[in-house]
Amino acid sequence: MGSERIAAFDQIGRLYDESFVERDAQLAEGAWLVDQLERPARVLDLGCGSGLPTAKQLLDTGIEVVGTDESAVMLELAEQQAPGGSYLHRDLRDLTGLGEFDAAVAFFSLIMLSKADIPPLLRGLHAALRGPKLLQVAMVLGDFDQFQISFLGVPAQVCAYPPDDLRQVVTDAGFEVIELREVAAEAEPNRLEVQIYLRARAV
Ligand SMILES: C[S@@+](CC[C@H](N)C(=O)[O-])C[C@H]1O[C@@H](n2cnc3c(N)ncnc32)[C@H](O)[C@@H]1O
Repeated sequence: MGSERIAAFDQIGRLYDESFVERDAQLAEGAWLVDQLERPARVLDLGCGSGLPTAKQLLDTGIEVVGTDESAVMLELAEQQAPGGSYLHRDLRDLTGLGEFDAAVAFFSLIMLSKADIPPLLRGLHAALRGPKLLQVAMVLGDFDQFQISFLGVPAQVCAYPPDDLRQVVTDAGFEVIELREVAAEAEPNRLEVQIYLRARAV
């Protein structure tokens, strides 16, 4: 990642929360995780963005949250909107020195990686999990890699899997898929997309 590259979400910033308001399914995923974890619990939020809704939801129930993101702008929003988390300005593929976690969540962040980067990252997460060893991932339904889009007017590259392919990638990294569901949601004003929410446990 060159230093001249401006992270897409440094340009998107607050616009993301303002436009992507339909978060019921993601909140339901967070509520499930809150129920699964005995306290004290430690969760890694990969590509935590502005801290809303997930980091805040977890922190509000006494869960320790470490959030990583490549966007300094999003991390500043997270500090404001979900105070109490440990927010690290780093590539989410870099798990060095983060320690162990009871769960890792990646809501709409792996989507911005190349598919080639996802299996090694999942294996790294597998090694970093302890206790209930939970993983939650949200993606957008599709079948493409490094696909150039304009997201809220900002150029970005995204990937997407058909549901069975996502299930396979997660399984191949040593996880047992607990649930995978598809949800239609308005991700930008007047743009409906099908999202995939996956819950898994490291085995
Ligand atoms: C679509 S937003 C999702 C944010 C948050 N997880 C949520 O549910 O609202 C994707 C986030 O992942 C971050 N991101 C994308 N690629 C990244 C990378 N390689 N390393 C770190 N963060 C990354 C972006 O900066 C952005 O904040």
